[in-house]
Order: sequence, then C-alpha cells, then structure tokens
Amino acid sequence: MTKRIRLGVFEMMNPSNGMPTWTDPRGRGDDWDDLDHWVTLARELDAAGFDFLFFADTYGYATLDGRMPPEVAAHGIQFPALDPMLAIAALARETESLGFVVTSPTTVERPYATARRFATLDRLTGGRIGWNIVTGSSQATTDELFGVTEQLTHDERYDAADAFLDTCLRYWEHSWDDDAEARDRASGVYADPAKLRPVEVDGRFQRSRGIFAVPPTPQRTPVLFQAGTSDRGRAYAARNAEAVFIQGQTIASAAAHVQDIREQAVKNGRAADDVAVVTGMTVTVAPTSEEARMLRAEYEALLGLDDAAVMFAGITGLDLTGLDPEMRVVDLKTDLGQTLVQRYARQDPDMRVGQILDQFRTKAIRGFQVTGSPVEVADEIERIVDGSGIDGIMLEPTFGGLDAYRAFIELVLPILVERGRAGGGEASTLRERFSGAPRLASTHRAHGLTAHS
Ligand SMILES: Cc1cc2nc3c(=O)[nH]c(=O)nc-3n(C[C@H](O)[C@H](O)[C@H](O)COP(=O)(O)O)c2cc1C
Repeated sequence: MTKRIRLGVFEMMNPSNGMPTWTDPRGRGDDWDDLDHWVTLARELDAAGFDFLFFADTYGYATLDGRMPPEVAAHGIQFPALDPMLAIAALARETESLGFVVTSPTTVERPYATARRFATLDRLTGGRIGWNIVTGSSQATTDELFGVTEQLTHDERYDAADAFLDTCLRYWEHSWDDDAEARDRASGVYADPAKLRPVEVDGRFQRSRGIFAVPPTPQRTPVLFQAGTSDRGRAYAARNAEAVFIQGQTIASAAAHVQDIREQAVKNGRAADDVAVVTGMTVTVAPTSEEARMLRAEYEALLGLDDAAVMFAGITGLDLTGLDPEMRVVDLKTDLGQTLVQRYARQDPDMRVGQILDQFRTKAIRGFQVTGSPVEVADEIERIVDGSGIDGIMLEPTFGGLDAYRAFIELVLPILVERGRAGGGEASTLRERFSGAPRLASTHRAHGLTAHS
C-alpha cells in the first residue's frame, strides 16, 4: 500500500537554523525576529497542506570549557534566539489546520507549568499542538542560567523525564472528567466540583499537588514527540512518545532505528504503529539536477570547519579540535548528548575523530540530504520512506529563508500528491493527522495512571 508521508518543517527561532547562513541574501538574517516572517511561513505551509511546523528550541548555547566561544555570537551559531512557544498563538490564528510542535525540556522546566502552557495552546488552537520532549541540549549552560546545582547523569535525566511526563499526564488526563466543564448559565455552575480530582505526586524528582486549572482541551494531552536517540532515549520514546524525531542518515540505519522503536513499543504493551517516526531532511531542489547541485554547492560553501567544531562541542561537550584526530569515535565518552557520537560510531566502528568534522561541516545535526531535480527528489523520498518504514519527513531550510520550502511546495509536492504520498491529510487536530483520533491511544500508559502517584 502506498504510504502517505506526514509532512513537517523543522525550524528554530534563530538567525540561521543550524550552521550560520544568515549573511546570505537568501537567509533570514533580517527577519528571523519578525513575527511576519513566521506568519508567512505558517500560512504557506497551511495552504500547501503540510501537517505541522516544528520548532526546536533550547535555553542554552554552545560552550567550550564553560565559555561561549567567540564564533557563537560573531557568526550567529544558534544564537541569539527567541522563545518560539510565545509565537504559536499568533501563528495558529493565521492558519486553518496546520499543527505546531514546540520543543520544551524536562530538565529546567516544572511539570505543572509545562502542562498548563501546552494545555492553554491546545485550547486556543483547537487541538493543533504537539510537545517535543527533550532532556535538553547545551545542558551545561542551561543549568547555569537556571542556577541548577544538582547534576544528574545522562540516564538519570531520562528517569526524571519519565517522572516529569507522568505528572503532566496526571493533570491532562485525570484531573478533570470529560463532562466536568458544565458552563451552565441557568444553574450558574461553571464546572462540577464533584468531577474534578486533585493530582498528588510525591516522588524523587518532583512533588506536585492540586487541581488542574485548564479544563480538558481537544486533545487533552498534546501530541507527544520525542527527540534523543541514545539507548536510554529510545527506551523513553518507546514508552511515551507518539512521534519520534530522528535525524536519519542512511536508509539502513533509519530502518534499524524504526524497527527498534517499534519492537520496544510492543514490549511496552503498545501497537507497533502507535509510534510514528519522523526524520529531518534537507531538500535542495531545482528544475534540473545540475541547477540543484550548484545550489547545494553554494550552500555548502557557507559552512566552516571552526563553526562545525563549536556546534559539535555545544551538543556533546566534546571539543574535537583538542583531540587526537586518530582517536576512534567509539572511544569517545560524554554524559551530554550521546546521539551524535553514537551516530558516527554506528556508521563505522572504525571511524576516527578527524573524519567527524568533515562530515559535520556540511550535515551538522541534520538528517537525510536530498539534492536533485523534482522527480529525482520525489523518487529519493519514496525510496527512503519505503526502505526505512519512516512515517514522515521534516524539511530543514538551506539558506534559512523561505525559498527552500517554496521550491519543495512548487516542484516536489505536486509529484508526491500525484503519487498518493501527500495530500488528503485534512484533520482538525494534530493527533488525527497521525493516528486518526484526537485523544491518546487506549494503549498509551497515560490511561493506566491515576491522579495520585
Ligand atoms: C533529532 C534530535 C533533535 C533534538 N532537538 C532538540 C531541541 O530542539 N532542543 C533540545 O534542547 N534538545 C534537542 N535534542 C537533544 C535532546 O535534548 C536529547 O535529550 C539529548 O540529545 C540527550 O539525549 P540523547 O543522548 O538520547 O541524545 C535533540 C536531539 C535529537 C536527536
């Protein structure tokens, strides 16, 4: 059967989105902080039938030995940045049915505040909200910004993330009965107090008590995305996530990843397809193959090795420039993000540190790189989806402005629609675009929780 591909766009509210491109006239150096830029993007994606617009986000920034390297500010490497969540209500107001996924970390946020913010957005947008759950990149700087003194290990951060989500789920799913919100003018009853339940959580990572202030929203729980693909991250995803965001590198490695997540989901009592897997993808398309390759070369020429090293260090805590280039990647150890290190180690167990930067310069943290004519791109996307079992793609920008998306919409999307791969995804809530139903699947462990821990 021809599988419909969920379509999203991967964005960050900073001058470049990834490696510095803001100086290019096709970038967004002048308007990344202008709401109209994002409104235009959201409207165009909505009109084209995209499923969602995804915002990555972090409080932190790249550091080396506790200091911001000069390149970060000078070259605008994922810095400065705005909080995308604050723009969502405006973007939703300007669109009909596009979903919005916002990244929010479980490390420095508090569960109740997170639950309330997402529920507010779910209400205001009519159920078009997803939460990308992360244990956080640039954790060292984030901890300092927030004055966090208790340092958790990588795996403990995921344990805490489990407890964090539990608390949110108790508020979203168990504090209000479906019919508790009466809004009955005649009797003067807004909500039936007998149908509200206080949540009580008293655990190692948090304590929380009380009744949720937001009545049930169209989805109750926002669509639960997750990013972070270490072994512990995958276990977290298989247990909790409805959509996993990966940065697929090869069809074979993505297929193995999809299979692993699905098998682990089943072991958690869920259906294999309860978890959708979505990959990032940079598409460079032009009317001819040759033009597309020239465009890609222009883009790659903007990316520098020093900037790549800084960005890599920000994510992993590892300064590759200070290591022996002959060192094997499998021997690198980090307690920060392990996804990147494992990506290279899995790709080639004999890969050396010196080789990483070469690759990282042009790919950075991105997924599949697809370049070609419209038909070549459409063919490659189908090959990737069919060969890996992936459910959706998130387009990454090239130069940073809207051109890359517009080219995709104009040149590639009609081919995918004609082939039955895209389109026809109208739905009022974001979850319906994934599972067909507005509420969490009955197999999700949220239903096994109660208001009390
Ligand atoms: C594809 C992908 C996207 C991510 N996006 C974000 C993000 O937007 N914000 C953030 O703070 N962390 C992000 N992360 C990092 C996660 O915070 C993750 O928790 C971190 O990588 C550590 O977990 P890991 O070792 O499982 O990768 C992302 C990770 C991956 C793999």
